[in-house]
Amino acid sequence: MRRVILDVDTGHDDAMAILLAAAHPSLKLEAITVVAGNQVLEKTLANTVNICSLARIDVPIYAGMAQPLVRDQVISPAIHGDSGLGSAVFPAPLREPEDEHAVDFIIRACLAEPGELTLIPVAPLTNLAMAFLKEPRLKDCVREVILMGGAYGLGNYTPAAEFNIFADPEAAKIVFESGVPLTMIGLDLTHQAMVPPEVREEIRSIQSPVAQLVVELLEDYGEAYRQVMGFPAPPIHDVCAVAYAIDQTLIETKPMHVAVETTRGLCFGRTVCDFYGITGKAPNANVAVSLDQARFWPLFVNALRSY
Ligand code: BDR
Ligand code: CA
Repeated sequence: MRRVILDVDTGHDDAMAILLAAAHPSLKLEAITVVAGNQVLEKTLANTVNICSLARIDVPIYAGMAQPLVRDQVISPAIHGDSGLGSAVFPAPLREPEDEHAVDFIIRACLAEPGELTLIPVAPLTNLAMAFLKEPRLKDCVREVILMGGAYGLGNYTPAAEFNIFADPEAAKIVFESGVPLTMIGLDLTHQAMVPPEVREEIRSIQSPVAQLVVELLEDYGEAYRQVMGFPAPPIHDVCAVAYAIDQTLIETKPMHVAVETTRGLCFGRTVCDFYGITGKAPNANVAVSLDQARFWPLFVNALRSY
């Protein structure tokens, strides 16, 4: 069983990633850390607490960084709405976040058990970068980082950049250059995970409040993706990173050198991936290339059945 800390900016697809990570028997979700991203921290934190409360996910939740390291904050209301979770409504939460800061928790947990914990950030990389800056020994203690972010192809927030990296490029640069074993699940992969209509119907047929919430989230998120990107169905980006932590055979990866563009220009926030190895630089990431959809969708739907 792989022990993981999930770092989120909840967000429709973050919510689904939390549900998969907490439900799957191959993972032990040790904690959830939260950062600003899709919305301001106050909202991403409230969304995380609400999801965990509704689904009775009893793991500690830590609030982290409210702002990117250097750049001005950007958020994503066009896709995730003013609340960060569209029009979803929740009962009063049954629980509260911890007092400790997410950055301090990540450092404390990883240093206590070197080589044990996998970090899965599916959000801007501010919490991880801050932790690497604050505690230089951290990079030798993390088992692996599996992140959702970046692309070797097109961006989604600018023509060149994916949202999680664009929202904090300096943080992403620190994480990619940290030397930790790293897998990048970028848009090239996550755009292969657009929820097919038959999967949506399967989820609809599960009679539980959690599955019904996922249907509602998918409707809302699907409409946003239709309007903003012209996609026929919404891609559940963050779920792909969790799925890879569960079963690495679901996603084919290719080792590459990845550099993050931190110069303010047209390509600000782009992950420049040396797909063909033309720079001769040693790879610093396994970059996701293709998704085994035939096994990915049942994995996700079966996890939802367990609520
Ligand atoms: C990423 O940005 C957010 O909108 C999603 O939650 C995902 O983590 C996709 O670019
Ligand atoms: Ca996210």
